Amino acid sequence: MTVPSPAAPSPAAPSPAAASPAASAPGATSPRGRQTAAGSTAQSDLMRAARGEPVERTPVWFMRQAGRSLPEYREVRSGVAMLDACMRPDLVVEITLQPVRRHGVDAAILFSDIVLPLKALGADLSIEPGVGPVIARPVRAMADVEALPAFEPEAMTFVAEAVQGVVAELGVTPLVGFAGAPYTLASYLIEGGPSKEHAKTKALMRGAPDVWHALMTRLADISGQFLRVQVDAGASAVQLFDSWAGGLSPADYRTHALPYSKMVFAIVADLDVPRIHFGVATGEILADMATAGVEVMGVDWRVPLDVAVTRIDASQAVQGNLDPTLVFAPWDVLEARAREVVVAGRAAPGHIFNLGHGVLPDTDPDVLTRLVELVHTLPVAD
Ligand code: CP3
Repeated sequence: MTVPSPAAPSPAAPSPAAASPAASAPGATSPRGRQTAAGSTAQSDLMRAARGEPVERTPVWFMRQAGRSLPEYREVRSGVAMLDACMRPDLVVEITLQPVRRHGVDAAILFSDIVLPLKALGADLSIEPGVGPVIARPVRAMADVEALPAFEPEAMTFVAEAVQGVVAELGVTPLVGFAGAPYTLASYLIEGGPSKEHAKTKALMRGAPDVWHALMTRLADISGQFLRVQVDAGASAVQLFDSWAGGLSPADYRTHALPYSKMVFAIVADLDVPRIHFGVATGEILADMATAGVEVMGVDWRVPLDVAVTRIDASQAVQGNLDPTLVFAPWDVLEARAREVVVAGRAAPGHIFNLGHGVLPDTDPDVLTRLVELVHTLPVAD
């Protein structure tokens, strides 16, 4: 499956306007797919489903498929801090490919983290095991926003290198690149770490609109440019994680979060890759999230996919949405629910099977492998 390195990839385009047009050279972004020596990712089931075209089998991958559920992951990560691992292309390539080899999933997702670009640009933050991202100097005022680093393509060359290494091994299996949405990133920066209520985040959002706007605009640029780096280097699709946006009312989401997620998607709009939008507990804001400039709507397990399609654009594909805790249920229960998800997904023009949120660390990886095999055998139409 080894293919030559992509020809002269640019680590990042300085602005959407300066982006190079789609080309068909190996490694370049061909319209709607990534050309490699092994062929194009464009006709893979994942890309076809994202475009709402007929598929051979329902494509399946899992959010957090690379991670602690895999013994081979725990082995290569031992002694290496999370964000340090994300900055080492050799480890990123290995960890990204582990679940593809093991489960036979239809896509890889880059091993990285939503806060990685901030770290790479020089922010003082880390990911504490069992906790999540923690920042040394939380953002509370305009001076804190101004102290945040601006996007620098040179700081991202290791990401481009890792992506090139991954796609060279993947052949016609697409790589999904990703970034954090401004709201979810802002919640970590403002709280200083993970939080349930996001009270400080909402206080700043409502009480200091100028600081909020400055912060969210800065984060939108960083996340959008981070996605561009990944696509320029070989990713076939992108996903924006707005994990905590479901904590906002629809009105607050529309006013304070959505405009900035739109900015992120606009930064990659000319790249002709499917754009996936996902958050947790987003039932009430699905219709608004669907207007952000996306082809695929990720849905968590709370909303059945056939209900979700009534809230989004009729042209949009869906991704999801098996409850990640179902892997701990007896197999016949899991199988019945997976079948229901596939049937409900037929209500959309395209369906990418996934969990409704990330793989839980205690998940038995053999159950995930069996789930992939099951989904691949299920009929794609009535
Ligand atoms: O396989 C994949 O899906 C790609 C890897 C990936 C990671 N983080 C690796 C990771 C992805 C897509 C993310 C995104 C991410 N990171 C999100 C959005 C997705 C979601 O789950 O809602 C968020 C909110 C974060 C922030 C973050 N990073 C949290 C909350 C944690 C968990 C902390 C813990 O230890 O429980 C992390 C750490 C993290 N990111 C791990 C992995 C594999 C675990 C760290 C480890 O293995 O030591």
